[in-house]
Amino acid sequence: MRILVAGSGGREHAVVNTLSRRGGHDLHAAPGNPGMAAVCECHPVKADDIQGLVALASRLGADLVVPGPEAPLVAGIADALEASGIPCFGPSAACARLEGSKWFAKELMTSAGVRTAPGLLCTTPGEVREATGGSWDGWVLKDDGLAAGKGVFLPDGEAGAEDALGRLFPGGGGRVVVERRLCGREVSIMAICSGVEALVLPPSRDHKRAYDGDRGPNTGGMGAVCPAPGIPDGFEDWALSNVVRPVLGELRRRGADYRGVLYAGMILAPEGPSVLEFNCRFGDPEAQAVLALLEGDIGAVFLSCATGKPDFSGIEVLPGASACVVMASGGYPGTYASGFRIDGIDNAGDVTVFHAGTAVSEGRLVTAGGRVLGVTGTGAGLGEALERAYAAVRGITFEGAFWREDIGAV
Ligand code: GLY
Repeated sequence: MRILVAGSGGREHAVVNTLSRRGGHDLHAAPGNPGMAAVCECHPVKADDIQGLVALASRLGADLVVPGPEAPLVAGIADALEASGIPCFGPSAACARLEGSKWFAKELMTSAGVRTAPGLLCTTPGEVREATGGSWDGWVLKDDGLAAGKGVFLPDGEAGAEDALGRLFPGGGGRVVVERRLCGREVSIMAICSGVEALVLPPSRDHKRAYDGDRGPNTGGMGAVCPAPGIPDGFEDWALSNVVRPVLGELRRRGADYRGVLYAGMILAPEGPSVLEFNCRFGDPEAQAVLALLEGDIGAVFLSCATGKPDFSGIEVLPGASACVVMASGGYPGTYASGFRIDGIDNAGDVTVFHAGTAVSEGRLVTAGGRVLGVTGTGAGLGEALERAYAAVRGITFEGAFWREDIGAV
């Protein structure tokens, strides 16, 4: 099968790598990255250029397109591909609203009976103040739309709230979901969906803060482990029955078939598991950890879901555990310099090094992003997976490199 993967980050590198392991597929990426170029042909089309991607997929005669990031999905790439007769493993724009609008997701969960914190939609700072009663502890403010991971605020006083309101209502306008803050351990659930049927993958956990001990600013994710420690046995089944199936059912009732990955960011609150957010694609860096534990022809599984004839029989979850440690550029998630030479990947040992922000300059691999590499180890248990990942991280060098030392521990 000829498969085109759209995107250029660690998640897309993990998807291409997994596709390359079985099935003998002819793999292409747009735009891809230097790591992906080792297993597929890369084409200079951006992941948010919908018309460009449809044209590329048509020209290649692609049997399947797998968009990695959320922006093209929310903007309707699956619909555009369908109109051209090309199967897409990724949801339609109507379904991707689950990530594109926090309020749509909240309202849909309420209709579907999926547990989530109660929330209110506010369109002015005054409405937010009224909703919270002016006391900020215990509230979360969320930008309704896509915000590249920068749209969620947990104000801890008047000064923090002022700052958040300024960012959420730039120029006075905005749509903000105000909801109660829940406490507990977080877990990421990803399900491969085909409208009605779904396969829930093992639970994982990412680490969003920049520094050890969950300190510092939020990032795109500094690492992930799978299975997530401290999660009750059978949580996949619980999530399938209580989150994934109800959401798919409610979308179908509204005339939309969800085909692609449904990601539920969940929290194990004292009152029970609750959904914090949905994403309409694989998590990043969760994909790097979770996909490392899958065996089988995942391309065939993606196509079966994209065409509404789900067949999960060709896929197996391996025993053991995996850990992905992100190596980032000094200064990330703030400003950082790029173009530093990367050494040591070739001697990294028994791990997979996923490229997230790299480029080739004058024949050398250099840094080209905030998150540069995702070093992923597997093992019989989480300890062994972490040991392998960290041993490799210590052998890879670039100027300003930093990483968290406590992935999997908090
Ligand atoms: N790791 C969270 C996300 O991909 O949005």
